[in-house]
Amino acid sequence: MVEKLAVYLMDSQTRQFDKVLPHSAPEERLTYWKLRIKEAGGAETGALWKGGFLEEVMAQSTRLHDPRYAGHQVAVPLPQLAWLQAATALLNNGMAIDEMGPASSPMEETVMQELAKYMGLGGESGGILCHGGTLANLTALLAARQRKASGNAWKQGTEPRYAVLVSEQAHYCVDRAIRVMGWGEAGTVKVRTLSNHQIDPVALQSTFEEITGRGFEVIAVVGNACTTSTGVFDDLEMLAGFAEQYDLWFHVDGAHGAAQVFSQLNNGPLKGIEKADSVAMDFHKMLGVPALCTGLFYRNGTDAYAAFSQKAAYLYENDQDEWWNLSKRTFECTKRMLSVAVFGIWEAHGPKLWESLVDRLVDRARVAAHEIEQRPQWELFAHPQSNIVCFRLIGADNADLRQAMLENGPYYVVKTELNGETWLRCTFQNPLTDDRDIAALLDRLEELAASCSIQP
Ligand SMILES: Cc1ncc(COP(=O)(O)O)c(C=O)c1O
Repeated sequence: MVEKLAVYLMDSQTRQFDKVLPHSAPEERLTYWKLRIKEAGGAETGALWKGGFLEEVMAQSTRLHDPRYAGHQVAVPLPQLAWLQAATALLNNGMAIDEMGPASSPMEETVMQELAKYMGLGGESGGILCHGGTLANLTALLAARQRKASGNAWKQGTEPRYAVLVSEQAHYCVDRAIRVMGWGEAGTVKVRTLSNHQIDPVALQSTFEEITGRGFEVIAVVGNACTTSTGVFDDLEMLAGFAEQYDLWFHVDGAHGAAQVFSQLNNGPLKGIEKADSVAMDFHKMLGVPALCTGLFYRNGTDAYAAFSQKAAYLYENDQDEWWNLSKRTFECTKRMLSVAVFGIWEAHGPKLWESLVDRLVDRARVAAHEIEQRPQWELFAHPQSNIVCFRLIGADNADLRQAMLENGPYYVVKTELNGETWLRCTFQNPLTDDRDIAALLDRLEELAASCSIQP
């Protein structure tokens, strides 16, 4: 199996496949696998990798290691970490309590305290690892609720009169978390953004006054670092000051961009993150760790215990704060041994690898932006602050253009809607994407526009 994966990796990295995304209709693939499951029952192929199963999965999967991948925000995993994760899958320590993570629990505590320093969160900081930014954002808001809301929601439930201020560009999972907390649609108070997608400070103030005037108790403000669609960072310094003024919890959704703390060159837009009460950061976006692996950092590490307080006689002997029983601070009971990959990469390379990875990926977006600006038929949405860049072919139907690329390849780009119009969007995740790939991607889009009559 290792041999097959190595060949796949090499072929992907050297652009041997005809397309990054082996496009076909979902129904077609469903029919395929329905047939396969019929054939598979009792086929007794022996070892998994003898029956061609792995080849089929690889053939139908999107090839992130191909330098022509510039699609969604998922890490192109460092191959060493894939092997390390195979090892932890085999060990399968469940992490809920100390006895089920004797190596990986203290490792998690150590590495999270160390990494919290990069956020500048101070001597009391700490955090936990969990499965994804979605869960980290929910967990942070649960802690915020316990610390800032007037009642004790964990004990008595909550009235739908609490609210959280978020940018209208926030990831949908923030709104989802607030609805899960029982505050309905009204609980997420969306604040208008400026034309560059940063939260508008004037609108923030007026929205706050309006919502409190209507009897809502605002408990938190969430900053984007950065937005999913355009990669723009909110002014975190301004948000921190606002949160302090009104005694709100300040959470930074840094699922994508908080990783830029590791870069001297690209940490500028994160100024103010050190004043956050909590920060979510995905290791599985810009930091090369296989999904899912997210850090949730708290300025005051003990706030993590506020999110949950659970009695479970089969797990805990008391309801004290105990760092070694990790499920006292995580939504999950069982979780993967997430710390091993994070600690492993840290031990092997320290912050340097992450710094160079972040710099390389952000630089890819800047090269793309420069290339777009050289071509008069293209329009750039904004100069990239991260590895995300949005652009469009002027006057063309960019949704059709992206569809043409999806069907014909070989590149993989995505699309988004900005101010009601469709734009193409690239997130440069692969450090092997070179300048020629970027120029060739635009050439290919132009070629498709001409050949598929998408040209204006
Ligand atoms: C800003 C932001 N927050 C949260 C998320 C959700 O993170 P995850 O996919 O790890 O659950 C994303 C995912 O793209 C994101 O971009």
